[in-house]
Amino acid sequence: MKAKILELLRRKGDYVSGQELCTILQVSRTAIWKAIQSLQKEGYHIEAVRNRGYLLIEDEESYSSDKNGVVTSCDIYSKNEISSRLNPESGVNEVFFFDTIDSTNSECARRAEAGAPGGLLIVSDDQSLGRGRRGRTWISPSGCNVYFSYMCRPDISPDKAPMLTLLMALAVCMGMEKILTGKVIKTGGRTAKAVRSAECPMIKWPNDIVIKGKKCCGMLTEMSCEADYVRHVVIGVGINVRHREFDPEIAATAISLDDAWNMKVKRSLLVAGVMNEFGPLLKQFEEEGDLSFVRVPYLDRLANAGKQVRVLDPKGEYSGKARGINERGELLVETGDGKVREVNSGEVSVRGIYGYV
Ligand code: BTN
Repeated sequence: MKAKILELLRRKGDYVSGQELCTILQVSRTAIWKAIQSLQKEGYHIEAVRNRGYLLIEDEESYSSDKNGVVTSCDIYSKNEISSRLNPESGVNEVFFFDTIDSTNSECARRAEAGAPGGLLIVSDDQSLGRGRRGRTWISPSGCNVYFSYMCRPDISPDKAPMLTLLMALAVCMGMEKILTGKVIKTGGRTAKAVRSAECPMIKWPNDIVIKGKKCCGMLTEMSCEADYVRHVVIGVGINVRHREFDPEIAATAISLDDAWNMKVKRSLLVAGVMNEFGPLLKQFEEEGDLSFVRVPYLDRLANAGKQVRVLDPKGEYSGKARGINERGELLVETGDGKVREVNSGEVSVRGIYGYV
């Protein structure tokens, strides 16, 4: 009920009477008042005025930090805050929020094995055993970043599951862009104008998101399947939001959103914003069966588009210019001889000639 109240107050942007809330939610005035008090305790600034009702006040100025410099108020990170910002098209049926967990991917997989229906979103403030690609660790401290996993049971063949990572990469970019352009959030009265500027998130094929050439987000997709049938797919996303000190081995190539954009990003808004973009993409993918429909928007955001890349193919390295993706999500690389090679992410990695991107 609290998520619904937040959603209603936010949508109206003005006072909503207690009676109106009672009618919509079909509960008593006392129940509404208790839920409002509980939200206020969680840190929401909700004004209650006799004869007018309730007003949700969300201004960026009310951000504050704890003694470690971690932004606390206004970055309310909770199940209710995320749920209240999810659209019905997000494809999320249930949200679980943890203060701590081993890995959101592992938790999703456990619940999937136990029979949970698809559409499950697991979010955690920190992870004790966060996992990255190729067996690496994803360091996941609390209070500053985003770690979430989405479990679905798509009606696709197993060879198509890796394509979901590309869709999620696109959704992450689109969700971030909405925050950046102020369509969803205004930054202290100033709307960030950054469409297609250096501040824009870009995709380093297949599944890293970079800003200014540095990684701000990674994805880990895992699947359980039989030869011709997908039981479930888990797509895990880790985003550096206000990571202040990176480990030495990644410090040169990592960046956080707050640093990149010089603004304070609300983590709940980010998680919900990404899922609101992902849901419709997944639906269209299931209907159409390939990635043709995202080739143009993906190319628009491809960090290496038109750039010289080095393909680290175990059968022999080569270089060429990145030209976008095909309908299977393979990177198209135009080699010197004018041929276009299709690079499959499972077999090779791609590096920029002059650095990470
Ligand atoms: C990578 O770039 O190596 C992928 C990193 C993926 C990290 C995310 S954080 C949420 C989810 N849970 C995990 O254990 N890993 C993914």
